[in-house]
Amino acid sequence: MSFKSPPYIWHNGEVIDWADATVHVLTHALHYGSSVFEGIRVYNTPAGPAVFRLQDHIQRLFDSAKIYHMDIPWSVAEIVSGCKQIVQKNQLESAYIRPLMFRGYGNLGVVPGADIKTEGSIAAFNWGTYLGDNVLEEGVDACISSWTRLAPNTIPAMAKAGGNYLSSQLIGMEARRLGFHEGIGLSVDGMLSEGAGENLFLIRDSKIYTPPQAASILSGITRDSIFKLATQMDIEIIEQALPREMLYLADEAFFTGTAVEVTPIRSVDGIPLKHAGRGPITEKLQTAFFGLFNHQTEDQWDWLNYIQE
Ligand SMILES: Cc1ncc(COP(=O)(O)O)c(C=O)c1O
Repeated sequence: MSFKSPPYIWHNGEVIDWADATVHVLTHALHYGSSVFEGIRVYNTPAGPAVFRLQDHIQRLFDSAKIYHMDIPWSVAEIVSGCKQIVQKNQLESAYIRPLMFRGYGNLGVVPGADIKTEGSIAAFNWGTYLGDNVLEEGVDACISSWTRLAPNTIPAMAKAGGNYLSSQLIGMEARRLGFHEGIGLSVDGMLSEGAGENLFLIRDSKIYTPPQAASILSGITRDSIFKLATQMDIEIIEQALPREMLYLADEAFFTGTAVEVTPIRSVDGIPLKHAGRGPITEKLQTAFFGLFNHQTEDQWDWLNYIQE
């Protein structure tokens, strides 16, 4: 994920120069993965730049912190406003926003003492497609990883914490080393879980299936948006445990996530899916999703939070 650095960043409650947002190397989070974060997109809509589901993302940030007993010294409203402030300050029309809360500097005990405070930053910058050019139309080649996803009651998958992404790195690096665009992890019981950084859906006989929360997935906000858009289109989504061969036999499949948006999967482990590109149901959902940002889809849920209100 390469990006051009913008002039400003929000750091511990203030907007400062991008280059000044630094930490000490003995920062707790650097050693123990004790950070929580979000990835949020800003779209340039006909009514101006709008943040997609900002409140929901910041609520998930606070939920992740709650799981780890991490006190965030700002309110949800302050972080929501910090996100909008930094987009505006950097004069961005479309952007990726990365709020990060982390245990700071003060003590190197694994169990953070009272002298470890939570620090925070919010970056916003321009960022293109995540898995490559043309993938929104042509789809990606995925593989099942040899690495299993986090098991329940080990590292909580519902928290979007820095340390979780060591698993995602192993899955994602292995996939790319083997020539695939992305890797899919299985849950500890061998059922489909999710991609290294995205949720997974498949379609068979016009029904949409997706692994449930119990399959160690992150509760994706794009995933939830697809549920709502599909329901509105009278398409049923079934959440259930799915064996990997359901993917090989799928008519269509796609990934969802803030980074990948709605990206079709054209093959898994070298097996082409029936619609080995973008299938018709995927295309319908993708059109409804992107329609939110060009106003072709009505935003009935108040998902768009405009930078200029
Ligand atoms: C592991 C993982 N799963 C799923 C998702 C998709 O979540 P969302 O749609 O909220 O971006 C992400 C992206 O943040 C992720 O990192």
